[in-house]
Amino acid sequence: MPIRSIIIGTGSHVPQRVVTNKDLASRVDTTDEWIRTRTGIIQRHISNDQETNSYLATQSARKALDMAGVRPQDLDLIIVGTMSPDMPMPSVACLVQNELGAKKAGAFDLYAACTSFLYALSVADKFVRCNSRMKILVIGSEVLSRVTNWEDRNTCVIFGDGAGAAVITGTKEDRGILSTHLHSDGSLGELLIIKGLGTAFPVSHENLEKGWQYIQMQGREVFKHAIKAMESAAWEAMEANGWNGDDVDLLFSHQANIRIINFLGEKLGLPKEKIFINIHKYGNTSAASIPIALDEANRTGLLTPGLRILMVAFGGGFTWGSVAMCW
Ligand code: UT7
Repeated sequence: MPIRSIIIGTGSHVPQRVVTNKDLASRVDTTDEWIRTRTGIIQRHISNDQETNSYLATQSARKALDMAGVRPQDLDLIIVGTMSPDMPMPSVACLVQNELGAKKAGAFDLYAACTSFLYALSVADKFVRCNSRMKILVIGSEVLSRVTNWEDRNTCVIFGDGAGAAVITGTKEDRGILSTHLHSDGSLGELLIIKGLGTAFPVSHENLEKGWQYIQMQGREVFKHAIKAMESAAWEAMEANGWNGDDVDLLFSHQANIRIINFLGEKLGLPKEKIFINIHKYGNTSAASIPIALDEANRTGLLTPGLRILMVAFGGGFTWGSVAMCW
């Protein structure tokens, strides 16, 4: 039996403060009705000044390590998927490493926007397949509220803050991660972009006035690409494993829009009870969306041994991909 990666612990953490659609309707020209019907979102959690990306990531990590029964000092590697780090350097992963006291772990951030967690899980999977004893902490964590223009109704109603984590190790049992498929198309990067927080367009009065420090999204265009790409990544995973729709027990789609999730479920022929949905509580938490969902499902007892799980995500870059696993 080949070595496979298994998830032995999950955790998640969201900021305390809840912002409802009604709260947003008092700030921008929108309504609770529009947000609910067009996105499926009812509320989102928004960080205060202390709830930084690394703080949320560390909290989620502690819960995952606790569930896994793994001590921080036994971790070999920490990978944080994010596009909203505390700062460009040091990485969120290094900040988490220090907070946890994970003395022997390597640590790095991975940038693949909303697909970051699946990218990070894929990377962790490759390490574990080479050395089954490795213990890897994979985190998806975002504080997008800090890079959101709260006067732009196209974006501010969608995003939320949060973090989710998973502890990965190896097994020779016939379960765990079965396949990973990653894709990208940089030619469409402009459709979903934070232009001004890097080195090409450094912070200047001029660039701040243009709003380049914020997420800018051509929502309708992104929507069209997302549904196509997610459907194709889902079929790719199913074909690789010889699955048809009936073989998927639970779908974890990136929680970007309820209409995208339902569309994907329909295309794959999945009944509603096989589609995990929590977008109404958290909004789109980008890299954190799948690990938060995974943790919620895990802690409510939905993830039983042998369950066949399909995870599919799409995000800026563009990036997209899928991970199929047997729990
Ligand atoms: O996570 C990474 C990937 N991201 C995604 O997958 C997001 C994909 N995109 C979406 O989820 C949707 O495109 C949005 C939720 C962002 C927007 O929904 P939409 O149905 O595509 O709306 P739209 O942009 O086509 O706009 C339709 C109308 C427009 O008005 P007119 O031109 O028809 O008069 C917008 O101005 O809705 C208007 N609108 C709003 N109205 C009230 C746009 N945003 C809002 C708003 N409240 N917040």
